Formats: sequence, C-alpha cells, structure tokens
Amino acid sequence: MYNGYLDWCVNENKYLDQFREFDPSQWRLHERRFVMSSIAAATAGLPGDTAECGVFEGATSFQICKTRENKQDFTHHCFDSFEGLSQPTEEDAVADERAYVWKQNDLTSPLEKTKQNLRRFESMVQYHPGWIPDRFPEVEKRRFSLVHIDVDLFEPTIASLEFFYPRLVPGGVIVCDDYGSTWCPGAKKACDEFCARTPQQTVIHLTTGQGIIFKQPSNE
Ligand SMILES: C[S@@+](CC[C@H](N)C(=O)[O-])C[C@H]1O[C@@H](n2cnc3c(N)ncnc32)[C@H](O)[C@@H]1O
Repeated sequence: MYNGYLDWCVNENKYLDQFREFDPSQWRLHERRFVMSSIAAATAGLPGDTAECGVFEGATSFQICKTRENKQDFTHHCFDSFEGLSQPTEEDAVADERAYVWKQNDLTSPLEKTKQNLRRFESMVQYHPGWIPDRFPEVEKRRFSLVHIDVDLFEPTIASLEFFYPRLVPGGVIVCDDYGSTWCPGAKKACDEFCARTPQQTVIHLTTGQGIIFKQPSNE
C-alpha cells in the first residue's frame, strides 16, 4: 500500500472500480490514473468539450467520459494517428542511457480497438484519426474544459499546446502526461517553451510525472 492514511489508498476499491470498468485486469493502485480522474471530475462543471491528444486504446478517454456521462451538448474529441508515434526529432534525444528510445510507429493500436473500448460513450465521442495537428481545424470553433496531452514527443506536444491553450475556458486545465518522464524529454521542453512565452503561465510538476497547466481567468 502506498500510504495507509490516504483516502484513495484506504478506500482503494472505490477508486479501482472505475478502472476495472475499462480493463478488469487493473487491480492495483495507479497514481497517474487517480490524478487524471480527480482532475476530470474537478473540471466537469466547467462549460466546454474535452479532448485527448494521444488516445492509444482509450484508457484516459474512458476516465474523462465517465465524469461527464450525463452532460448535455458535450463532446469528447479523440486525436491520434492510430499508427503510433510520429518521427522523433532532436528535441526528443534521451540523455538517460537506460531509457527506451522511441521509434516512429511505436505504440500503434488500431482505431477499431479504441472504438470498442469506448463503445459505452459512443454518442459523446468524436474520433479525428490522423497526424497531429492535421485534424485540429475540425474543432477550431469549440472551447475546452480539459485537454489530456499524451503523445510522448516534442512536436505533437507543442502543436497541441498551441492549438488548445487559447481554446481553454477560464479555469480549464491541460494535463501533460509525459512532462516529468526521462523517457520523454521533448514533452517537458514543449511545455516549458510554451509557458515561457505565455504571460503568467507555469507548469505544476506532480510527483506522478504529470505536468498541469491551469489557465488563469486573467489569461483569457
Ligand atoms: C502513450 S500513448 C497514449 C496513451 C493514452 N493516453 C492512454 O490513456 O492510454 C501515445 C499515443 O500517442 C499517439 N501519437 C504519438 N505521436 C503522434 C502524432 N504525431 N500524431 C498523432 N498521434 C500521435 C500514438 O499513436 C499513441 O497512441
């Protein structure tokens, strides 16, 4: 057990049940998933759609949709090549010799598998298969309460930040899954570079490795 005094550990079944709904094999505590569920729930009352850039088999999209199950006029947008990673660039060069070095098309999973995993939310999910940012213009008129960026590499991470940040509603949140990962240095570079040129914007670095970009109402 991670910490016997923490509610999410003591009452682990309450939290694990929502993960088991997606994949019954997930019986262990998972910090990043817990954080994501918590942020998804906290932003559920804000207006706007949600999006995930880097969907893979749909685990995080499932969590996001679950917190907005009864919401009217709401869409969750899924952006992924469904052909795996794009070509890493020099920004993604890993200093840690022990780290896995990403290659183009790593993490390929077919769109049909994700659709099957998210079938319960069929009416609220839109799929935009293709290389980021090619399909972003399809949602250029939408606003967002929550965006999960989980593409492991510099170029699609910075393209996602540049497109979605201006479209966040005040108080909206971007979660970058790979911010603190030594395997994904490009993700951190993208977030830091983006925030450095955005007034009053910082990244909150969590112990899980996730980076949180909270849009101040004054940055509207
Ligand atoms: C780590 S996985 C995402 C995991 C997912 N968020 C989850 O909850 O399980 C990374 C995903 O990013 C996608 N991806 C990486 N680079 C991309 C790009 N340039 N354009 C579109 N998708 C990309 C891959 O296809 C892969 O599905």
